Order: sequence, then structure tokens, then C-alpha cells
Amino acid sequence: MSNNIESHQVENRVFKPSKEFAKKARVSSMAEYKKLWKESVDKPTKFWAREAKELCWQKKWKEVLDWKAPHAKWFVGGELNVSESCVDQHAKGKRRNKAAIIFEGEPGDKRVITYAQLHREVCKWANVLIGQGVHPHDRVLIYMPMIPEAAFAMLACARIGAVHSVVFGGFSADSIADRLEDSGAEHIITADGGWRRGKIIPLKDNVDAAIKSNASIKSVIVVKRTEQKISMKKGRDHWFLDLEKDVSAKHEAQAFDSEHPLFILYTSGSTGKPKGILHTSGGYLTGAYTTCKYVFDMRDEDVYWCTADVGWITGHTYIVYGPLAMGVTQVMYEGAPNQPDFGRFWQMIEEYGVSIFYTAPTAIRAFIKAGDHFPEKHDLSSLRLLGSVGEPINPEAWMWYRDKIGGGRCPIVDTWWQTETGAIMITPLPGCTPTKPGTATLPFFGIDAAILDESGNEVGPDEGGRLVIRQPWPSMTRGIYGDKSRYKKAYWSDYKGIYTAGDGARRDEDGNFWIVGRLDDVLNVSGHRLGTAEVESALVAHDAVAEAAVVGKPHEIKGQAIVAFVTLKGDHEESPELLGELRNHVGNAIGSIAKPDELHFTPSLPKTRSGKIMRRLLKELVETGDISGNITTLEDFEVIANLKKKLGGK
Ligand code: PRX
Repeated sequence: MSNNIESHQVENRVFKPSKEFAKKARVSSMAEYKKLWKESVDKPTKFWAREAKELCWQKKWKEVLDWKAPHAKWFVGGELNVSESCVDQHAKGKRRNKAAIIFEGEPGDKRVITYAQLHREVCKWANVLIGQGVHPHDRVLIYMPMIPEAAFAMLACARIGAVHSVVFGGFSADSIADRLEDSGAEHIITADGGWRRGKIIPLKDNVDAAIKSNASIKSVIVVKRTEQKISMKKGRDHWFLDLEKDVSAKHEAQAFDSEHPLFILYTSGSTGKPKGILHTSGGYLTGAYTTCKYVFDMRDEDVYWCTADVGWITGHTYIVYGPLAMGVTQVMYEGAPNQPDFGRFWQMIEEYGVSIFYTAPTAIRAFIKAGDHFPEKHDLSSLRLLGSVGEPINPEAWMWYRDKIGGGRCPIVDTWWQTETGAIMITPLPGCTPTKPGTATLPFFGIDAAILDESGNEVGPDEGGRLVIRQPWPSMTRGIYGDKSRYKKAYWSDYKGIYTAGDGARRDEDGNFWIVGRLDDVLNVSGHRLGTAEVESALVAHDAVAEAAVVGKPHEIKGQAIVAFVTLKGDHEESPELLGELRNHVGNAIGSIAKPDELHFTPSLPKTRSGKIMRRLLKELVETGDISGNITTLEDFEVIANLKKKLGGK
């Protein structure tokens, strides 16, 4: 872990929520926030139990928390069916004919799904899965475009107690194969394809490639979306359209234990192997619901839109579970933000009267670059609250978001959290928190966040350190699927009984948290987590490559770009063709988000005398064009001198 945690960002602009917003908000003054926050961290079980009670439980818990660090059980003895809170309670009640999902496909096709229809769809899906022999605890891999069926399938798994593992539709066949192997999933839900930038992403073809020699797959359920020709293996592959004909649209939601596994979601860590982050039912849903209520201030009359993909944690918590538990109407969009042009989002906000909008800094930066004339063409006055997630938002992007999209009137909630935390952890509350561009501000209720130095002491104002959480919270991960020791080592080994997030941060004198970035070898590319080790192992898996080192470099739009240094095996020569081939090779191995932006051939890599690659030097070189730090441990000075020449000559 690097000790060099510094941030020199100084930001003095402070924006308070308008009186009008505050008046209607659930928490409307800082005095109230502070009081509630203190109570909630002094007695977390009391706070969380009060929130959890608002969900549907078939059996009440006996004990709120059983905590034996690092293992938590929440709402012990309680039983619920997660899909009942998200679907049945609304379908049976006053939201029956309310729109749950307003869907727009990239080509422009539209669908509105009411809560009653959502209920019928989820029941049908549940019955289809049961018909395919899916049992509680079975893992089901979902590889779908951003269409309502992705949510139906996830909720149907939850309904029958199966554990979904959604794989982002931009990931490759190899990534699917790895996740199938790790999770032991024997059932797959996919579509023929999905639309992205006017092209078809061949999802079923990718699944076929991933399971070519995998005899353990029992069924592949395919949703018809793009209608190109695909191959279907008899007995194994089924069109959902055929299966649904034989099932009922009724299904009784059986209760499962509060700690019943809900999903596994893979994310990058500091080794080459993605970690299967496990979340369970009662606690996760409580975190998702509570944060939707307080952070997004969701109301029955809101139209909410989160632009994430269900393949990421943001899509799980803030498209599927949280907003649906709140019974809100939400917009779901299949495609790219710039299809047919950069006006697409703004046009949709105007058309559907979106009031709460949640997106990522990388998208905002792309919009800034595309030009103000796109949002200016549209009436965005329905918006009342804006959110940001995935990476630190640079003050320039924050100000643009506030002025050009929020018309200067919408509070911005910059939300810090992780796949592992399940729900938002550090965030402004829109009715009370004074915001400054670039900071996620203060911890959410029940969250005891702090910044510690290496010896475990809390650092002073404006001093850098490691971001930690000192108390368990309901939506925390229950571990890494199938790897207990890695869970302990990755998150709980720096300080006893304390969760280390892997981010560097500082607090300013008002107590605001400023996230500096990852302390481990994890990159944040367009808000997506990628391990340098993952990209390196993809590169060395190519025949021509002897060694590879990958570092991140600041990028105007993506936040970070991927820079790879590659040494070739003796019998291979560098060429522009090989360079292109290696980039594509990484794209095929992981997905196109992992393709190196820059790739440099080098006869050798900078190493210590004991043979460790000095990525620190490569990082400094790509960031500044020079090396200023200590290089006395470097084995061969020539390597750096040559690389400097090479990069400088570009
Ligand atoms: O480095 C932090 C960054 O994204 C990491 C978590 O990535 P992931 O698990 O993919 O989840 C992303 C969506 C929740 C964090 O360790 N990060 C996320 N949100 C922010 C952030 N960094 C700064 N500010 C944020 N608001």
C-alpha cells in the first residue's frame, strides 16, 4: 500500500440547499442530521431496525445484529422475500397501476411496466426458473442488455431464493467463463443481443463461446431483443417466449432467512482474479431502501433515473432493489449516452419529466466536451435532485452539472460507496448538507467512517490517510464467494475489527471526506474498477508477451487511462500490428473497457534488485514524463532512461 496519500485540492465554494428544498426534505437542518447521525452510530441497531421495519417481513427478527468481526449477521432469525418488498406490496396496494419502469431502447422503442405488470412478469420468470430446475441457493448467471427483463430475472432469482450473478454485458466470453467457474452457476439468462451505439452486442454468441466446452450448464434462457440469427442448442437453450407460454403468472413468495444469499457480483481487486462479492437479503435491502429514502429523497411523485448498468453494483442497488422497494417510477435506458447524439439523456429527461437523476463523473465530462448546446435545447426544469457516483468528481464537472443540468437549483449528492459496501456510505443529504464541489461530504446514518494513519490513529484535518469504517452496517458484503481468507486479508487485516475500503482520503476542517483514489493496484476507468493485475495477466497470456506492467494515467474523460508496458519473447518483434493485436487481445480477454489506451514495447521493465517490477516509477513517468523520486533500488537505470526517451519522443 502506498503511503503517499496527498491531495492539494482546495475548494472554498459552498452550496447550501435552497430553503424550498429543505422545507420539504426528510432531514432539513444540519442540527437534525448531526443529532440523528450521532444516535445512529451510538446505537446502530436501533436506527437500522427502525428502517428495516418499513420493509415486508414474513417473520420478525430475534436479534438485530450478531457481530463477530469480520462476520456480521443482520436481523437474525428474521425471514423475508426480497421481491415482496420490491414488487408484491406495490402491486397489491395503491401503486398497482403506477409505472414502475419506463423503458426506452436505444433504437427508440418504448415500454411502460406498471407494478402490477412487474408482479406478473416476475412471477412468470420465477415459474420459468423453477421449471428449469433452479433451486434455492443455486447460482444463476445473468448476462443481459439494459432491458426490463434484466430486472425481472434478478427479482425472480431473489423470489425463488436463487443467487444471481450479473455479468456486465460489455464483458467478454472469457470473463463469463471465469465467473461461471468461480460461482458454479449452472443456469444462464441472456438475450440474443443488445443495442449499443447502433450496433448489436452479440450476447448469446458470447455465452456460446464461454460455455463451448462446459458440460455442466443445464439451461440457457434467451430473451428476444435484437432478433438477429443465433444458434440454439437443443435441450439446453430455450427462448423465454416459449417457456413463458407454459407457466402461470402467479407465484407465492416464500420467506427466506434474512441472511439468505441474494447475489454475487464480481469486482476487481489487486490480484488478477476478480472477487465474487457476496450480498445477503435483509441487511442489503435495508441499506438500499434507507439510502434511497434519505439520500435521493424519493417520493411517490418522483420520476427517478439512474444511468448505470445492472451489471454493476449501482444498477443492483439503485436501479433494481432500492427504487423498487421505495415504489418509485423509474426510467431505464438501454443504450449509449451519445446515440444518436449527446442530447439523448436531456431529451429523455424532458420527455419523461425526470426529477431525480443519478449518473457518473465520466459521463458528465463527456457531456461537457460535447458542448452546452445539447442540454440547452431541452427543458430540464423537472429535475430537483442530482447524484454522482463511481469516482471523485472534479470541481469543474460538478459546477457544470449544477449549472447546466441542475439550473443552479438542484442539490448534488456526490455519493461514495463500493460494491462491497452494498449501499451509499458517504454522501450529502440533499435537504441539509452544505456541499462543496469535489467532496462526498459526510457519513450516512449508522456509518462510522474515519481516516486512519498506518498505526491506526485518526489523522488531523487535511491530513491524508486510509478510509475505514469502524462499525458493521447492514448492507456490508458478507464475504468473497468461496474465499474466506481473501475477505479477511483484503478488508480486515490493516486494523483489528475495522473495514479498510482501499481508498485514500482526507477530511477538511468541516469534517468533509475528500476521496483521493485507490491505494491498491485498482484503476478506475470511466467509473469502472479494473485491477492492473487483471490487465497484466491478460497480456502475458498472449504468446508474444514475456512480461507486462500496467499503470493508470489521468484522463480527461475516463478519469484514468490504462497504460501498458510490454516486453516481448525473443522470437517476436514489435510492430504496429502486434500492438493492435495485443490491445484487442485484452479486449477479448476481459472486455473492451480494459483495452490499454497506450501500449509501449520495452526491452525490459524497471525492477528492484530482487526482481519486483517498480510500477511506481512507470506511473510517475507516464504522469510527469520524468522520475523525481528515489531510484536507488532500481536494478538497471538504463531501462528508465530509454523509456523516458521513448515516451518523450511521442
Ligand atoms: O475508489 C472509490 C470509487 O470507486 C470505488 C468503488 O468501485 P465499485 O466497487 O466499482 O463501486 C462503484 C460504485 C459505487 C471506490 O473504492 N468511488 C466510488 N464512488 C466515489 C468514488 N470515489 C470518489 N467519490 C465517489 N463518489
